[in-house]
Amino acid sequence: MATITTVSQLANHVGESVTLQGWIANKSSKGKLHFVQFRDGSGFCQCVLFVKNVSPELFEEVGRAGQESSIVLTGEVKADERAPGGFEVSVTDGRVLQNAVDYPITPKEHGADFLLSNRHLWLRSKRQWAIIRVRDAVAMAIRRFFDGRGFINLDAPMFTPNACEGTSNLFELDYFERKAYLTQSGQLYGEAGAMAHGRIYTFGPTFRAEKSKTRRHLTEFWMMEPEVAFADLGDVMELAEDMLCFVVQEVLERRRTELEVLERDLSKLECIQKPFPRLKYAEAAKILLEHPDSEFVDGDDLGAPDETILSNMYDRPLMITHYPAEVKSFYMKRDPEDPSKALCVDVLGTEGVGEMIGGSQREDDLDTLLERIREHDLPEQYFQWYLDLRRYGSVPHSGFGLGLERTVAWICGIEHVREAIPFPRMMYRIEP
Ligand code: 4AD
Ligand code: MG
Repeated sequence: MATITTVSQLANHVGESVTLQGWIANKSSKGKLHFVQFRDGSGFCQCVLFVKNVSPELFEEVGRAGQESSIVLTGEVKADERAPGGFEVSVTDGRVLQNAVDYPITPKEHGADFLLSNRHLWLRSKRQWAIIRVRDAVAMAIRRFFDGRGFINLDAPMFTPNACEGTSNLFELDYFERKAYLTQSGQLYGEAGAMAHGRIYTFGPTFRAEKSKTRRHLTEFWMMEPEVAFADLGDVMELAEDMLCFVVQEVLERRRTELEVLERDLSKLECIQKPFPRLKYAEAAKILLEHPDSEFVDGDDLGAPDETILSNMYDRPLMITHYPAEVKSFYMKRDPEDPSKALCVDVLGTEGVGEMIGGSQREDDLDTLLERIREHDLPEQYFQWYLDLRRYGSVPHSGFGLGLERTVAWICGIEHVREAIPFPRMMYRIEP
């Protein structure tokens, strides 16, 4: 009996007979030969059926089998530099488990809408396979990074009574006899966690009723949010820098094959090193106001085109700090030297991908925070628990949120965040 193994393990079985279980990603036939582009989830390899090496039934069955038919194949593993992945299997036995007829996603080009409607199948395509595996490595790297620094993972709730990032894009729902919202951010709960554990991170899905149809926005996306007691803005900027460098290194080490599938320019990732360039909002504004292509208005938040202009100036992520407090969230601490500015940072990815991280030092004074809640017209009663964090042992603390999909899109070098999550949710799409 041949050993059952996976494509990812073929290097350990050269010269042996093995059994692989998977699917026909593609197939071509030339007289006495069938070339099966085989995939099993762990990787892709070519399996060759020569008419004289297999039973007439198997040869005929594979000849008839459509793309994405499920199949078990046994054969000898050969190292072959020309073969994709470096190995080829010379088949001697096997069977088709289910013959798939008329698989909708053929090797020809399809439109984005058609592919998204078939996302449950599109996930099997090589590029999508590679992206989702990079996503896995990014998430794992983030956990490893924070674990190594003594952070605790603290899970924030999805149902909340209060808004964190403004009230304009909340998903409201009926919660028995009252209203509740889907969370926009785990931060406020993360702050409670930081007062209990010192340093924590939340990692989970977050929701925003984004009416904008852009390549950067999803209505459901994953966010990782560290929160650190006794840390100021500078401390968490360094943390963000270290984390991004660590994540990129890990993906370069663990997902090289996938980055090659994506034809990613690795030199663009290899140069992601500390220190990252830093600009204050006022400096960024000056650049934009002098830029011929910018429609930037001083005092406004940076728009996507502004972010693209600025991030294209550097080969490392750009950190922009000290935005006007009015365009930022209620919980941000003001700069004591210029109270019109918030002690905040946005980290923009290279190659024009825009904001990947938003963070800040938090307002730690009870009365000031209460004033901000009132200024923002937020319902005071639902923030009493949050204000308790300032009533009982308030300390300086800071944190940030990293959008997983934008980070994955950046590392993969893909245009649109919709491919960076298994089942994207957008204004006009909730299926499949
Ligand atoms: O800048 P944001 O709104 O910051 C917060 O939510 C803070 N509470 C985080 C914190 O300090 N703990 O969002 C953080 C990141 C953005 O930089 C972006 O990467 C991502 O979340 N993001 C989105 N990603 C995809 N689709 C959307 N609609 C997103 N909105 C934000
Ligand atoms: Mg932001």
